[in-house]
Amino acid sequence: MEQSLDGGVSLSALFSWFAATRRPLPWREEPTAYRVLVSEIMLQQTQAARVIPFFCRWMDLFPNPHCLAAASEDTVIKAWEGLGYYSRARALHRIAQIIVAHHEGRIPNDQKALIALPGIGPYTAGAIRAFAFHERAAAVDANVSRVITRLIHPMTREAAASIVEQLLPQEQPWTTMEALIELGALVCKTTPLCSSCPLADQCRALASKTQEIRYAKNVIPKTSLWRDVAIFLSQGTALVTRRSGKQVMSGLYEFPYFDTTPQGSAASTLINALQPRIPSQLSFIASLCETSHSFTRFHATLYPTIIGVEEPFAWPDGKWIPIEMLRDLPFSSGHKRVLEAWLTTFLPCNALRA
Ligand code: ADE
Repeated sequence: MEQSLDGGVSLSALFSWFAATRRPLPWREEPTAYRVLVSEIMLQQTQAARVIPFFCRWMDLFPNPHCLAAASEDTVIKAWEGLGYYSRARALHRIAQIIVAHHEGRIPNDQKALIALPGIGPYTAGAIRAFAFHERAAAVDANVSRVITRLIHPMTREAAASIVEQLLPQEQPWTTMEALIELGALVCKTTPLCSSCPLADQCRALASKTQEIRYAKNVIPKTSLWRDVAIFLSQGTALVTRRSGKQVMSGLYEFPYFDTTPQGSAASTLINALQPRIPSQLSFIASLCETSHSFTRFHATLYPTIIGVEEPFAWPDGKWIPIEMLRDLPFSSGHKRVLEAWLTTFLPCNALRA
C-alpha cells in the first residue's frame, strides 16, 4: 500500500531501495531488546561500520543484562575502550543494573519507563520500541531529522518526529523507520548523494537546490590542547593515573601529563621541570613520536617521553603497575596509542604481544 508524507510524498520507492540496499547489521538480524539497546547506545555518537566489531565483542562478553549488571565497572570500561564518550558505557552498565533490580531483567517497552533510564532519550526509546518490540514508534535522530527537513521543509527535531509519527504505516512500521534511518546514514548525508536517492524526484530541497541550506550544520570547532606525557619507569613498573569522579573519561587510565606549547617541550626541559617534585633521580630514556586524539570538544596532541626513576614515588591518583599488566587496563584512546607505541618499539614482543 502506498503511504504519503505531508500529504504528498510517496515512500514506495524508499521501500524498494531499502529492500535492495539494507545493510545486514548484527543488531538488525537478531533484534532482541537487549541487542537493540546496546547497539543504539553505541550508535549515539559513532557510525554503524565502526560499531560492528565493538558490538560483537560486547555480546560475547556480556550476552545479556544479567552478565552486564554483574560485571565490574573496570571490565565494562575496558570493553568500551576505543569507542569514546565513556559516559555511554557507564549508562549502559547502570541500565542493566536497574532493569535487573526493578524490571526482572527485561527491558521495558514503554516510552516513559525507557526514558527514565540513564542515557536514553526520545530517539533511543523510539528505536527500542520500533526495532525490538515492533511498535509504531518514531525514532528521529539527527539523520532522520535532516531527511525530513530536506524532503519537506526546515523544521525542529520535535516537528520532524511528529511528521514521522504520522507517516509510519500500520503494517511493519519499523521497516519504514529503519529505511528512513538508513537513507539518512547512507544517502541523505550532510553532503547528500542525491543521484542515488530513491526520493530525489520528490525532494523539495533538491528541486530548489537548497540541500546544503536546509541542513544547518552545527560545527563547533575543537579546542586544541598540547601535552607532555611522562612515562615514568621504575623496577619493572610504570606510573599511571586514573581519572575519577565525574570528570570526562573518568575510570580511564593515563600516564601523567602536563600542559605544554604547540611544539611540546624538549625532554631535558621536561625532566628539569619535574625533578624538584620527585624525591628520586630521574634519567632520560627515550622520546616517542607525538600522537593525537580527540575527545568531546577537544583535540589533544601528546608528546611522550620515557623517564627512568630509581624508586617508585607517590603521585596524586597514581599507581605503579607492572609493565606486563598495562595492557589489561582501560586507557583513554590517546594514552593507549602512547602505550602501544612504547611497548611495540622498546620491549621484546614475545612477552607482551596483545
Ligand atoms: N544509527 C542509529 N541507529 C541506527 C540503526 N538502527 N541502524 C543503523 N544506523 C543507525
